[in-house]
Amino acid sequence: MQRIAILTGAGISAESGVPTFRDAGGLWEGHRIEEVATPSAFRRNPDLVHRFYNLRRAAVQTCVPNMAHRAIAALQQAWPEHVTLITQNVDDLHERGGSTKVLHMHGELLEIRCERCDLKQRWTSDLTKTDACWECGHIGSLRPDIVWFGEIPYFLDEIEKALQHADLFVAIGTSGVVYPAAGMVDVARNRGIPTIEFNIQATEASPYFSETRTGRASETVASWVHKLLNPETGLTDRC
Ligand code: OAD
Repeated sequence: MQRIAILTGAGISAESGVPTFRDAGGLWEGHRIEEVATPSAFRRNPDLVHRFYNLRRAAVQTCVPNMAHRAIAALQQAWPEHVTLITQNVDDLHERGGSTKVLHMHGELLEIRCERCDLKQRWTSDLTKTDACWECGHIGSLRPDIVWFGEIPYFLDEIEKALQHADLFVAIGTSGVVYPAAGMVDVARNRGIPTIEFNIQATEASPYFSETRTGRASETVASWVHKLLNPETGLTDRC
């Protein structure tokens, strides 16, 4: 049985109503990265940064997973030892779609952490600069557990290991411009394994994949997983 490393990006959650970053009307059209998604932005203007993530935290809780999240969860449940799910997304739609192990390399919107004592906690409501850490008591050090620009993504060792052992690399709904995630297809290519990109359109990264399947992730990913799990239907799939 083949080992599959799956990388997801904002496009997989787009049909659930979570805005992407770089599409028309995306989050980075209305906000400047350096004002809301860097450690220095948080030091300079914590109110603005908290407001940005408070809005997103509230909004994501009104969204529901779509067929792409559910299909990946079904694949993980069928082949638990063979599928590694890596996401750049900070929403919890993979988990609510049924995935149990998700490597959130850019952190999670529903988690906060203390910059002083580094403890983490699930958090579903608004956070402000006047909230005190439940552990060390410090005021103002609680922040969204999001990996901001200039910070080191989580799970890099585990991700590297998954890529080194994978027989297939799949990227779903990501523009492929933010590193280190954008470099994963190169790691896979250098190992000579097949690489499939699922995106609503061709991307800058498409030339680096062995195959690009265009269309809505809820349809293309669900159909790919269905064929993987039901080879006996005669609808054989190349990967
Ligand atoms: P982007 O907004 O850069 O890209 C989203 C991708 O999803 C685009 O390539 C779209 O074409 C595609 N897409 C949109 N709707 C789709 C659908 N229904 N089905 C399939 N594909 C669809 O988002 P990411 O690549 O995830 O990091 O961005 C990577 C990182 O940049 C994010 O994690 C975030 C951001 O800055 C941080 O905040 C640290």
